[in-house]
Amino acid sequence: MKIFAVANQKGGVGKTTTVVNIAAAIAEKGKKVLCIDADPQANLSDYLGYDFDASRRTLLHILKGEAEPHECIVSNEDEHIDYIPADIMLSSAEMFLVQMMCREQILRNALKNDRELDSYDYIIIDCPPSLGMLVHNALAAADSIIVPVQTQMFSVNGLIQFEQVVNAIRKNINKDLTICGIVETMVDNTKMTKDVDEVLTKEYSDLVYTTKITRRIEAAYSSADRKSLIRRKNSSMGTQYRELVDEILAREE
Ligand SMILES: Nc1ncnc2c1ncn2[C@@H]1O[C@H](COP(=O)(O)OP(=O)(O)OP(=O)(O)O)[C@@H](O)[C@H]1O
Ligand SMILES: [Mg+2]
Repeated sequence: MKIFAVANQKGGVGKTTTVVNIAAAIAEKGKKVLCIDADPQANLSDYLGYDFDASRRTLLHILKGEAEPHECIVSNEDEHIDYIPADIMLSSAEMFLVQMMCREQILRNALKNDRELDSYDYIIIDCPPSLGMLVHNALAAADSIIVPVQTQMFSVNGLIQFEQVVNAIRKNINKDLTICGIVETMVDNTKMTKDVDEVLTKEYSDLVYTTKITRRIEAAYSSADRKSLIRRKNSSMGTQYRELVDEILAREE
């Protein structure tokens, strides 16, 4: 089993869209996938069709030690994706985790100790746009990180700070953590896209995936319809996400 975290502290760069669609593309290959919504905005849960239910156990309960991961799983039968949902209550985690022992390792240990997760081939964690406790927990639990970067002004600026956090997690908690790759999102024909691509390629060379995700309104329709781009008929973005998955899995071999 392999655990990916999809992370970038910058907001609105395509993290959640990437999680859902790489999960759907991996599931299409017949692999068993579990997504974890680690964002109190709960966009991933929404996208996967989750309806808020106060009696349901979520990532919050795992972090509080009140539930095991397998007890929180919801299945989306159409997408063949299982997921652990979040809701706005998860925002309290940033506060209570601070005072817990081994606070960065709660999720890591919960996933490691839950034998019922052994049947999953991949776990993919959707991170919130921050560098707080929830992200620390996601990075501590992950084997590898996928970083979506929007090809817009300032998008590269935060990457150095992000790498510092990754290095700290590596040093203190998770020495084998790798950055699997950087995926350019919302790519268009502007000079800005071209400039950002040049900078990324220069700074990060092979880490940048060859597959780019273009800017298309389809992405918004897909989440509004709660249906992945993989399942949308003749979706060019679906094709891009399939190609991205091929690259991601090839790197993992
Ligand atoms: N390739 C794309 N082209 C156009 N719009 C996109 C694309 N990818 C995502 N979007 C849209 O941009 C918005 C932000 O995307 P998404 O929610 O995936 O980003 P995020 O990084 O998870 O955001 P947050 O940091 O708030 O969690 C959404 O409305 C989504 O539908
Ligand atoms: Mg998101």
